[in-house]
Amino acid sequence: MGRHRHVTGGRAIEIPRQLVERLARARRVAVLTGAGISAESGIPTFRDALDGLWANYDPLELATPLGFARNPGLVWRWYAERRARIAATRPNPGHAALAALEARCADFTLVTQNIDGLHQRAGSRRVIELHGNIARVKCSAEEKRVETFDPQAAPPRCVCGAYLRPDVVWFGEMLPADALARAEAAAERCELFFSIGTSAQVYPAADLPLRARAAGAVLVEINPQRTPLTERADFFLQGAAGEVLPALLGKPGLNS
Ligand code: OAD
Repeated sequence: MGRHRHVTGGRAIEIPRQLVERLARARRVAVLTGAGISAESGIPTFRDALDGLWANYDPLELATPLGFARNPGLVWRWYAERRARIAATRPNPGHAALAALEARCADFTLVTQNIDGLHQRAGSRRVIELHGNIARVKCSAEEKRVETFDPQAAPPRCVCGAYLRPDVVWFGEMLPADALARAEAAAERCELFFSIGTSAQVYPAADLPLRARAAGAVLVEINPQRTPLTERADFFLQGAAGEVLPALLGKPGLNS
């Protein structure tokens, strides 16, 4: 298989020629991203042992309906802290490359497990947020989005009296049905499916690459480490998304 050698950061990133040619002629592309694509923006992933978001907290204490019911103030403050940290970050070249890829594909769908909104800030438009968005707040009783609330309260209350909460999916909660249905449809109709920056462990998101493969798509994984998906992928580009994606999209035939 012909390989383009792209040297960046002193390390060669091997981009298979077959993949470049396949992507250059692809019309229907779907992408699933996870925390790894935001790592280079300074947002810790979930499962990094050293600085992962959960290093100092027990996720089951905070990112669950029971955790919120037990200590709504703590959970609200934890999300407020994360929201402030995320607001101070910027999209990285990986996010930018996916926005550029969307512009060149007739039918492009970006499904993300991330709640940081960095894909939209990088210019991606067709984004499906499977796990919600930390910048949004909703009523914990009525499930409807709330735009204005008392910034001093932790947590603030809805006019109905119930607590407000982050509009994100917690452990044990169902994913937004419409978002999941659209993501599954995109996986089943695409020619090329990219799984980028996800440990491919959390379902139903982790099922999307397998669905795409079963429907006949070429499966590409981009990750510095191998995952349970790696052996099922047609192409495994081992490296950081912020380096691999620009290297891929910079290839002749793709950088038009
Ligand atoms: P994880 O923390 O499980 O996995 C992050 C993945 O990104 C790992 O496979 C890393 O090897 C990889 N990675 C690290 N740096 C990278 C880089 N620069 N470029 C590319 N990849 C890199 O995060 P997710 O797979 O997103 O759900 O976790 C999935 C879900 O688990 C999250 O959405 C969250 C959690 O439960 C909810 O909160 C509902």
